[in-house]
Amino acid sequence: MSEAVETARAVFERHFGTAPQGVAFAPGRVNLIGDHVDYNDGLVLPMPLGVGTAVAFGPLDGIVEAVAVDFGEEIDSFPAGEVPASGEGWRAYFRGMVAMLAEAGIVTGGCRLAIAGDMPQGTGLSSSASLEIAIGRALAALAGTEISPEELSRAAQATEHRYAGVNCGIMDQMASAAGKPDHAMLLDCRDLSYENIPLPEDWAVLIVQSGVERGLVDGEYNTRRAQCERAAEAMGVASLRDATIAMLDAADLDIETEMRARHVIEEIARVRDAATALRAADLATFGRLLKESHMSHRDLFENSHPQVDRLVERLKGLIGSEGGARMTGGGFGGAVVAVMAASEVERVETELRRLQDADGMEAKTMRARATS
Ligand code: GLA
Repeated sequence: MSEAVETARAVFERHFGTAPQGVAFAPGRVNLIGDHVDYNDGLVLPMPLGVGTAVAFGPLDGIVEAVAVDFGEEIDSFPAGEVPASGEGWRAYFRGMVAMLAEAGIVTGGCRLAIAGDMPQGTGLSSSASLEIAIGRALAALAGTEISPEELSRAAQATEHRYAGVNCGIMDQMASAAGKPDHAMLLDCRDLSYENIPLPEDWAVLIVQSGVERGLVDGEYNTRRAQCERAAEAMGVASLRDATIAMLDAADLDIETEMRARHVIEEIARVRDAATALRAADLATFGRLLKESHMSHRDLFENSHPQVDRLVERLKGLIGSEGGARMTGGGFGGAVVAVMAASEVERVETELRRLQDADGMEAKTMRARATS
């Protein structure tokens, strides 16, 4: 179990002088393939992690109060029913979730929360989605209500849009809310249908930090999204999910917009192929698709980073043809995901460390299987 659960419980007791009613948990995720396609109604293949965010919760009369363990035990507090319309940092997510769940009819008359996480932030592993989903689960439990993963994810996505200023898709929230450990989730972002596909026993998923912190809110993300929407509009389709390469070739688009759209259209096809390869335990094909995906991010979507590219090249060299590596998540820095035979992962980690000692290129690793 995630260490965050015990931390949240202990801080709740110390801070509020009483035991919590319960502790909600939601994981972060790593996306295996399919980035910047969720807001284009596409297909994605994320996988939930063993780490994430825990929220210890208990009732309180008339006041909504939270303590954030990982932010110097900062406190946020406001009268129930009077959620501030904005907030900075973690408060944006906390306030957003209270407000969005209230809009969905899940109202708390007051509560106390202690929030703790055990995952790196700003590395493309969705610590914010795990925070939102864990808060949502705690609030629903306090209200004595069940909330479906889809409804919870929509509330979390609305929190990102309206409180954090990121026009994100819904992949991270759905992966956190409905993913299954050691399974990749093939999610259709158009209708939110999904299938949790087991990861073959003898595959390993390794997350490698590039050391370059990324910021979603710096505008690049929203710019990419706007370009995709422009391309869809120019081709007369509701979203890039409905576009084809032939339509793109015939469209009159500026080169940059065309490159963005080409990435999305081809990436959706790659996700489909990757799911087929996963079901067939075909590591070589899966790995090839990861490599192609990375090149597409680097050259067409232009949301990679030179340091990330170097790390991907290094991993490709160490892994060979039975597997692959690519940037993962929003991009512009952050983490790399690598898939390989489980029997190889020890060697790859050791080699990475050795090379890091030699040239200083950061490569902190984390295994993504809950069972490893
Ligand atoms: C961020 C967003 C997601 C998704 C990815 C890129 O993680 O929150 O909705 O768009 O970037 O795939």
